[in-house]
Amino acid sequence: MKLSHIIRNLAREDELKVRARPYFNHSVEMKKIFSPLERAEVLESVGLNVFYFPSEMITGCDLLSDSGVSTMTNEQWAALHTGDEAYGSNRGFYLLMHQIKETFGRDFFNDPTTGRPNAFIFHQGRSCEDALFTILGKQGDDLMIPSNGHFDTTGANIKANKIEALNFFCPELKDKGSTSHFKGDMDIPRLKDLLGKFHERIPVVYLTITNNTAAGQPVALKNIKAVAELCRQYDTPLFFDACRFAENAWFIKKYESGYEKKSIQDIVLEMFSYADGFTISFKKDGLVNMGGGLFLRDKGIFIKKYPDIPDALLNYQLIKEGHPTYGGLSGRDIMALNIGLKIITKEEYLTYRIEQVSDFGKTMERLGIPVLLPAGGHAVYLDVNRFFAGTSVKPEDFGGVALTAVLLAGFGHRACELGHFAFGSYDQSTQKEIAPEVNFVRFAIPRLRYEKTDLDAVAHAVHVLQKYREHIPGVEVISGRELSLRHFKARFRFKG
Ligand code: F0G
Repeated sequence: MKLSHIIRNLAREDELKVRARPYFNHSVEMKKIFSPLERAEVLESVGLNVFYFPSEMITGCDLLSDSGVSTMTNEQWAALHTGDEAYGSNRGFYLLMHQIKETFGRDFFNDPTTGRPNAFIFHQGRSCEDALFTILGKQGDDLMIPSNGHFDTTGANIKANKIEALNFFCPELKDKGSTSHFKGDMDIPRLKDLLGKFHERIPVVYLTITNNTAAGQPVALKNIKAVAELCRQYDTPLFFDACRFAENAWFIKKYESGYEKKSIQDIVLEMFSYADGFTISFKKDGLVNMGGGLFLRDKGIFIKKYPDIPDALLNYQLIKEGHPTYGGLSGRDIMALNIGLKIITKEEYLTYRIEQVSDFGKTMERLGIPVLLPAGGHAVYLDVNRFFAGTSVKPEDFGGVALTAVLLAGFGHRACELGHFAFGSYDQSTQKEIAPEVNFVRFAIPRLRYEKTDLDAVAHAVHVLQKYREHIPGVEVISGRELSLRHFKARFRFKG
C-alpha cells in the first residue's frame, strides 16, 4: 500500500489539540536577570509609569504593545542588506508599489510619473494621521469624523485640528453575554442617524480594523459593506485605519459565512474594495519595526470630492518626511516591509498567531481572571472593574495603573493600562475625572516573539495577583493628570 494512502486516513490535522509553530527560532537574545525589588526601585523612580521602565530589566514578557516589536524573519533581516539608500526612486520603492497593489488593490498606488499622487509613505501611523487631518481640518468648520473606535493618537490628531472625533462602538461590545465574533463593528443605527443629520459636516467616515480601542475586536465584512453603503448614500468617503488588516481578514474567513473557502488575500482585497482610502501603521501587520502609509483610491469618492488634497499631501510629505519615493523610510526598511506584507497574509502564520492570543485569553479565563472573550487578534483585555470588585479600590484610584505596576515589579511582565487613566480625562473646572466607557489593562502580544510557556507565565502571575488583590492599593497622580495623552507622561505613587 502506498504511504500517501495511509496518510490520507491518518493525518487528521483538525483533531490536533496542539500544533507546532509555523516557524522556528533563528536567533535569540539572552535575558539579564533582575530581582522584583530591583525593578520596584526603578519603577518607583519613574513614577510607576511603565512606559519609562527600562525594557532590559523585563525578565518576563513585554506586552506593552504589539507595535514595532515583531520579530522579523531571516528573509527580512537579509533583505535589509539589499536596501538601496538612493535619495530618489530607490529600488525598494518599485517593489513596494507592486506589493501595495497586490495586497490592497491596484487603485491604491499610482506610478508617481502619472501626476496623480495617491500613495504616501510615512515613518509611522500617526504621522499619516497628522498629514490627513491637518489638511482635512482646513476644509470647513464644525467637522466631525465618526468611527467604530478611533485609536488614541488618531482621536488626538483629529481633535488637534478642531474636528470632533466620535466613537460608535457596537452594543455587543458591552454586552457580557454576547458571543459575537465581531464586537469591533460600527454601530450602524448611530452612524445612519449622524449621516442623516450632519453628512455635510463629515469629511470621512473611519473604520478601524481590527478595532484596537474596542478590545482589538474584528469588524465583519457585513458591517464594512453596511457602512460603505451608508457612506455611498451620502456621497461620503470611507477610510480604514488598517493597522491589523490581515488579522481582521482571518476572523472573517473563520467566522463569517460564505468566506470559509476564500484565501486571506482575496478577503483583504474584498475588504479594501469598499475603502476610498486608508491610513496604516506597518508596525503591526506590516511585520516591521517602523513604517506607515496613507493611500487614496485613484478616482475614488475622496479624490473626486477633494481634488486638491493629493497635492497638498504631497507638499506636506515633501516638507515633513521626505521625497515621495521613500517618504519617512530608509531603503532597507522598505525592503523588509515588502517581505513583511507577503508573509502577513499567509494563513498558517495568522492561524497560529490568533490562536496563540486566543489560547492566552482562555488560560486567563480558566484561572478566573476577568478577560474579554472571545479575544481579539492582537491582545487580551482584562476588565479592571471586575478584577478589583469587592476591594477598596475605587475608579478614581486607577486600579489598572496599580495592577500594571505590581505585575511589572513583582513578576517582570509589562502590560498597559487602557482604561480610566489612559482614556479618561480631568475636568479642571469641576476638578472631577471624566470616566471613559471602558476600563481595561491590555496584554498585547508581539508577533513571532513569544512561546506558549511565556504567555502562560503571564497568566499565572496575574492569577497570583488576583488572589492577593486586597494587598494592591490604588494610586494617586503626582503629575500630568490634566495633560492630553496623559498616560504617556503622568507620574503616580501608591496610596497609603
Ligand atoms: N491606529 C491604530 C489602530 C493603532 O493601533 C495605532 C498604534 C496607530 C493607529 C498609530 O500608529 O504607532 O505607528 O503611530 N498602536 C500602538 C498600540 C501604538 O500599542 O496599540 P503608530
